Amino acid sequence: MTESTIRIRLMQADDFDDVVRIDEKVLKVSRLEYYELKFERLFHSKEYLPTSLVAEEEDGTVVGFIMGELFMGEFGISQEGATLDTIGVDPFYQRKGVGETLINDFLDHLRELGVKKINTLVNSNDSKLMHFFSTNQFRRSTTVLIMERSL
Ligand SMILES: CC(C)(COP(=O)(O)OP(=O)(O)OC[C@H]1O[C@@H](n2cnc3c(N)ncnc32)[C@H](O)[C@@H]1OP(=O)(O)O)[C@@H](O)C(=O)NCCC(=O)NCCS
Repeated sequence: MTESTIRIRLMQADDFDDVVRIDEKVLKVSRLEYYELKFERLFHSKEYLPTSLVAEEEDGTVVGFIMGELFMGEFGISQEGATLDTIGVDPFYQRKGVGETLINDFLDHLRELGVKKINTLVNSNDSKLMHFFSTNQFRRSTTVLIMERSL
């Protein structure tokens, strides 16, 4: 594979199996139910604009994806409310720039829709993902702080 053979396109409902497969490969745990709910919300509700993308090889093999939510309420799009929820690149295709291409195309698309800010949650112990996001110009939020309490 070379970077130029990878094509980025909008995610469709029938990408479900590929997204679940790549996510399970990356996380080593199945999140089938999470994706069932997420696909239901994103592809069967009119309140979310399509923003999620997949990266595919020339032969159509899906090798990575990025998912986010952009809520469209009665006052239009939420300019600060766009989220990047999940990104995953098949381990065989990692470290070749696919993740960076996915992020850049995802942000370009949101910018065109008028979004000014995006946020994502990252586990601070996940040094690989923290590094990936900071390389891609994401910074620690100065406006949002997650509060937690053990039960
Ligand atoms: C984080 C993740 C998306 C990165 O995807 P990726 O395609 O490997 O990303 P990139 O190739 O764009 O960049 C990763 C690294 O490869 C490097 N790289 C890019 N092209 C390269 C090349 N041709 N040769 C060598 N390295 C290269 C980048 O510089 C970057 O290095 P760095 O970490 O030192 O900055 C991927 O590792 C992944 O899916 N991780 C799991 C994510 C996860 O946990 N998701 C669930 C919760 S959100």
